[in-house]
Amino acid sequence: MAAAIIADAFDSRAIQEAARIIRDGGLVAFPTETVYGLGADAGNPSAVAKIFEAKARPRIDPIIVHVADPASARNYGVFPEWAARLMDRFWPGALTLVVEKTPAVPPIVTAGLDTVAIRIPAHPAARTLIRAAQRGIAAPSANPFGAVSPTTAQHVADQLGDKIDMILDGGPCIIGVESTILSLAGEIPCVLRAGGVPVEEIESEIGKVDVLIGTARKPAVPGQLKRHYATRTPLEIREEGAEDLRSGERAGLLCLVTPGNPILYAAVEILSPSGDLKEAAANFFGALRKLDALSLDRIIARPLPERGLGLALMDRLRRCSAHEKDIFQ
Ligand code: TXA
Ligand code: MG
Repeated sequence: MAAAIIADAFDSRAIQEAARIIRDGGLVAFPTETVYGLGADAGNPSAVAKIFEAKARPRIDPIIVHVADPASARNYGVFPEWAARLMDRFWPGALTLVVEKTPAVPPIVTAGLDTVAIRIPAHPAARTLIRAAQRGIAAPSANPFGAVSPTTAQHVADQLGDKIDMILDGGPCIIGVESTILSLAGEIPCVLRAGGVPVEEIESEIGKVDVLIGTARKPAVPGQLKRHYATRTPLEIREEGAEDLRSGERAGLLCLVTPGNPILYAAVEILSPSGDLKEAAANFFGALRKLDALSLDRIIARPLPERGLGLALMDRLRRCSAHEKDIFQ
């Protein structure tokens, strides 16, 4: 396929064209407030199959269905009554809910599971696209499987440009990490992936939840692989002073605030000079990409505080640093 056209996500003709591509079974990359998504008609199995192909994603990894309103969410999933509290507080937004699926969801979307992941994105262009397409849009992050997620249209074009029909450019993603995934399918609500909505905020609405990230011996879902979000450059998480730099080694540093020893490094990416974890999340994947493009020997990442969005960022760093040989937890 020729390189995808990049169109303005706020141009109504571009949205109409993108909606037509979705209805016709094609692939459109679109902006959300978390990361860019690679969308297809959620009700069309052969369109969804193209997502797996473009990303080289294993068929065992289920995909989130994006909808524009709670009524459409109920078309795809069966929600417990009390879930309305979560929908009211966090939708539209970076919370994905896993619930029992309805027959409207083809098995390829859920990788054969009887649950489905659903969210209403907050980015206005995403919701306009979903409304114009008049259907739910199945969309993983728009990157090759296991690679760093895209937070600009250019990131998508660089990695998948020749495999998709159209890219809608809605500017940089303001949250910058993927949605938090909360399963309502078991007895107790359970966070399966830390993300854009901090666990603390969910607990302030519904009380204590289980958190099943990083600690599980087996992945909570088949798609949650230990090695993910990976740079080509090896990445290690090290405290200041514990870098163990080898002589002549060209290392890059990823850190929250201005480091004490920047001259040791060939390149330094500071995520938020004021130490704000929201700003850090918005800069996170872009900073990883910049360091990865410099052909460094190693990327050293400083540990981040594991509260608020820091929990999601540390989860991404741990998966990025995992060894290739043990991708399954
Ligand atoms: O912010 C986001 O969530 C972005 C944007 C585009 O919405 N999407 C995203 O999709 O991160 P993806 O495919 O990269 O990650 C979604 C993950 C899957 O890997 C899988 O682990 C989980 O969601 N998932 C999907 N369906 C599930 C289900 N039925 N049960 C449990 N987990 C599920
Ligand atoms: Mg992803």
